[in-house]
Amino acid sequence: MAILKLHKYGSPVLREKAMQVAKVDNEIRELVENMIETMYAEGGVGLAAPQVGVSKKVIVIDTEEKGIIVLINPVIIKREGESKEEEGCLSVPGVYSPVRRSYSITVEALDLDENKIRITQEGFLAIALQHEIDHLEGYLFIDRLSPAKRLMIKDKLKEIE
Ligand code: NI
Repeated sequence: MAILKLHKYGSPVLREKAMQVAKVDNEIRELVENMIETMYAEGGVGLAAPQVGVSKKVIVIDTEEKGIIVLINPVIIKREGESKEEEGCLSVPGVYSPVRRSYSITVEALDLDENKIRITQEGFLAIALQHEIDHLEGYLFIDRLSPAKRLMIKDKLKEIE
């Protein structure tokens, strides 16, 4: 296992649309192991592959109740309700802001055994999933802030870049 280099705001890979994973092979399994180790080393609760420079649809989330969730090619198939909670991101260090999200979501994905799985989550885990799935589309949480709020963090973003 290895700790991977974390890509931060300004790195082009964070703005790419990640590729579908065609096959869950050893390369993907190794990527997932390294992503988990990197997430722990950086003190994050979730990580998407583009954040370690790999433009593939893979996310990991650390949950207290269910351990680590690994999702390959995740797709949100249902959304319900609204929430607005403070978020941060390892790729945008030092910036925290409330973000509007769905309160509850259902996601379809593959697991590490290439089985199709469907999970429904609400609250904190639903927010974490939406945040990480956004990374796979090339979005960062700061893209979802109001223009006024974005103006407030402009200088901080310049510092990171
Ligand atoms: Ni993030």
